Amino acid sequence: MIHFKAMVVEETGDKEYVRTIVDRTIDDLPTGEVLVKVGYSSLNYKDALSATGNRGVTRKYPHTPGIDAAGVVAESVDPNFAPGDKVIVTSYDLGMNTPGGFGQYIRVPADWVVRLPDNLTLKESMAYGTAGFTAGLSVSGLINHHVTPDQGEILVTGASGGVGSIAVSILAELGYSVVAASGKEQEKPFLRNLGATEILTREAVTDTSGRPLLKERWAGVIDTVGGDILATGIKSTKMGGTVTCCGNVASHELNTTVFPFILRGVSLVGINSQNCPMGIRREIWKNLAGPWKVNLDRLLNETTLDGLDEKIERMLKGKLKGRVAINLNSKE
Ligand SMILES: NC(=O)c1ccc[n+]([C@@H]2O[C@H](COP(=O)([O-])OP(=O)(O)OC[C@H]3O[C@@H](n4cnc5c(N)ncnc54)[C@H](OP(=O)(O)O)[C@@H]3O)[C@@H](O)[C@H]2O)c1
Repeated sequence: MIHFKAMVVEETGDKEYVRTIVDRTIDDLPTGEVLVKVGYSSLNYKDALSATGNRGVTRKYPHTPGIDAAGVVAESVDPNFAPGDKVIVTSYDLGMNTPGGFGQYIRVPADWVVRLPDNLTLKESMAYGTAGFTAGLSVSGLINHHVTPDQGEILVTGASGGVGSIAVSILAELGYSVVAASGKEQEKPFLRNLGATEILTREAVTDTSGRPLLKERWAGVIDTVGGDILATGIKSTKMGGTVTCCGNVASHELNTTVFPFILRGVSLVGINSQNCPMGIRREIWKNLAGPWKVNLDRLLNETTLDGLDEKIERMLKGKLKGRVAINLNSKE
């Protein structure tokens, strides 16, 4: 019987949740076609919510979070995967109500599994993780709407976060002029190093005057925060520009009129990584490993299961920058 370590989140009563690292066996895992020995996982905002008892993400506790995992197939009853294959599993129900990547083994349906692309290591794939994949979908949203580097500046909001920092990096790599909006004054050097040409405060990209249209500035916007910042981005986008929307750390609300859409032809593109069809999923991973590949060392922090607790707390306070990959094989 295979024994392994996993983080388990338990409700202790009175809506208090505790996280501990416990021993489990593969018999504790759900049924599924593919058993994966996890090499790396990563920390996403959704994991921080699941790890603190958010029932919108995870209905039942005790639970092992981790919406991302990359590792090696240990057993498979599906003909498409064999022991030894390197694979990535992200989104679907992983880490939500299915035990996730914060454990050294996962067992999942075969149709959740993506083969690790050539030119990407397990660690690199989790430096991207769902945040990087979402950044990739967002960049693809701009490209598919014909936003090209010659059209002008692209605004990225929540720029020091996981999705934001990878979006800044990919866009800069592809030759776009990137303006980063960040609440972290101290992270200006970090954002410049990723390729941002200008860094604005959150206040500078927030307009609450109620005006339906603002001065046209952005050829495109990748928004990761929602609320007034997203609304302001839409109102400041140039004729024919595109805005992508993936997150709600600032707010789930969006106060705008129809004028940016009907007077300036602005497109608003919704991004959903969780249920992204497999064809697009493979294409995005291929791009992340190929033409869009960025220097991930600049934005990666590596930790272990034992160091994860502190990172979760920091993420919930909006204090993390870049990405956190979790090394599941560390002996620490
Ligand atoms: N739709 C999808 O498929 C999908 C997939 C992945 C993630 N998401 C969502 O995308 C968002 C970002 O995810 P992430 O993994 O990048 O999270 P993250 O690493 O925690 O980054 C979020 C960033 O947003 C900024 N921020 C935090 N609180 C804010 C506030 N109150 N007002 C304005 N900005 C604030 C901070 O950046 P600065 O300090 O630099 O401003 C923070 O680093 C989350 O809402 C997440 O749930 C959606």
